[in-house]
Amino acid sequence: MPSPSSALLERLAALLGPKGFAREATAVEPWLTDWRGRFHGKAAALLSPSTREDVAAIVGLCAAEAVPLVPQGGNTSMVGGATPDGSGEALLLSLRRMNRIRSLDPAAGLATCEAGVILAHLHEAALAAGRRFPLTLGARGSATVGGLVSTNAGGTQVLRFGTMRRLVQGVEAVLPDGSLFEGLSPLKKDNRGYDLTQLLIGAEGTLGIVTAASLRLVPAVGERAVAWAGVETPQAALKLLRHLETVVGDSIEGFELVPASALDLVLEHVPGTRAPLAGRHPWNALIEAAVPMAVASPEKALYSALGSALEIGLVTDATIAASDAQAEAMWRLRDSISEAEKKDGIAAKHDISVPVADMPAFLVEAAEAVEARFPGVRVNAFGHLGDGNIHFNVRAPRSSGPAWLEGEGEAVTALVHDLVTAAGGSISAEHGIGQMKLAEFARLGGATRIAAIRAIKQALDPAGIMNPGKLVPPVEDPHDGLAERARRP
Ligand code: FAD
Ligand code: MLT
Ligand code: ZN
Repeated sequence: MPSPSSALLERLAALLGPKGFAREATAVEPWLTDWRGRFHGKAAALLSPSTREDVAAIVGLCAAEAVPLVPQGGNTSMVGGATPDGSGEALLLSLRRMNRIRSLDPAAGLATCEAGVILAHLHEAALAAGRRFPLTLGARGSATVGGLVSTNAGGTQVLRFGTMRRLVQGVEAVLPDGSLFEGLSPLKKDNRGYDLTQLLIGAEGTLGIVTAASLRLVPAVGERAVAWAGVETPQAALKLLRHLETVVGDSIEGFELVPASALDLVLEHVPGTRAPLAGRHPWNALIEAAVPMAVASPEKALYSALGSALEIGLVTDATIAASDAQAEAMWRLRDSISEAEKKDGIAAKHDISVPVADMPAFLVEAAEAVEARFPGVRVNAFGHLGDGNIHFNVRAPRSSGPAWLEGEGEAVTALVHDLVTAAGGSISAEHGIGQMKLAEFARLGGATRIAAIRAIKQALDPAGIMNPGKLVPPVEDPHDGLAERARRP
């Protein structure tokens, strides 16, 4: 790919002005490494448009010279999706300045947000209007609407409200030829051909730049109850979830599995945290029930459900938060696992899903297989059990350095992904493919799926300027190391 010509850079600087165009390292560097510190890139400039018209103009100019663009929101991707490669040919296109909530209609239950709106700000604005946007995740203070749409983000409320795919009503986006797709219609039904909105959700910036999205809101929480329960096995945890759903109904909106290993990491690395229960439980479940208004106290319902769970031996101990502060302290334990894991050292991270009913057995068997094959590694598997999505992270043997990831870590990942594929699961449940999983996706994604994805990419972005090197496995090039790695026996 050609580097941007100086004429192009001058035109972009003139178009965007000093707030929208930067080349100095101090402005650009902070955005060239992913959140996990695993991928480092270079960019010819950082572009920060403030309007969709500017985005369209940028894409049109870059399309004319086939200059690659890497869109970026909060840069919290877990798969290096927003990090350019090391060539320096790409332009980093930040949507962070496009952070207006264009409209918020409580009656219609819709909020139209520009791509750079930070998730926590959307939460606040919706609450102020007596509504809520029912998707949250540990990176809510940085993740942006454009990134959430483009990764089809999940989080800890998928159990009840689904992923972004279910919460997006429409998107506005600039396509790779610079044309503006205006799909923000507030229509509840619109069957005009292929669903471009759904195509752009989860496209990871490879099919266009999302400039705004209309998002569904639900009634604000009237009452909620948060509980922490100790359980003996993942099997018991799943049975507990089904028991709670029977007794408490669909007001269960969070059910997160936390192994003792993850809780230990948080207690060790995150100041001000404490274990909610006495004693050390091999597995824990963080449970949240919420009702739109005080139709029936979720606390009483949760209290009776956990009481009966204790009687039948489903849980070994449990506590219900007595205040919002206690509830937040429990969620802080869960939301801090990634940060604690990062502080603790090197880990090969896997964001996998298998059929929900199979997850408990999968967790135990896969952990045994991995720890037997790679002595010294420690599995730290946690997360969204009710979605059949677990972060099956494998911590390197103590004192391993970053090189472990490219060495034994790759073999660990290949084994985990082989086990997931054999179980009929997915090697990416919510984080996407990015650059981190490209080779594994090429190896395990399935020829039909990959051929169709390549055909769509070719049709919409024939010059390949949109986020190159992410999500779409390159056509097998015998000289390409990536293809070589994908062919691994
Ligand atoms: P970025 O990281 O900036 O970009 C993500 C991808 O989207 C990249 O491919 C980028 O090119 C593309 N992109 C960004 N903006 C646009 C745009 N406007 N148009 C087109 N493409 C765009 N994810 C989950 O799903 N569930 C979780 O529970 C979860 N928990 C997390 C916890 C922590 C502590 C952290 C650090 C991350 C977590 N994530 C989780 C991952 C991450 O937060 C999500 O993937 C999120 O959607 C990324 O949003 P972002 O704005 O940071 O996007
Ligand atoms: C989470 O659920 O905490 C996130 O997806 C982040 C992670 O996998 O670490
Ligand atoms: Zn997650």
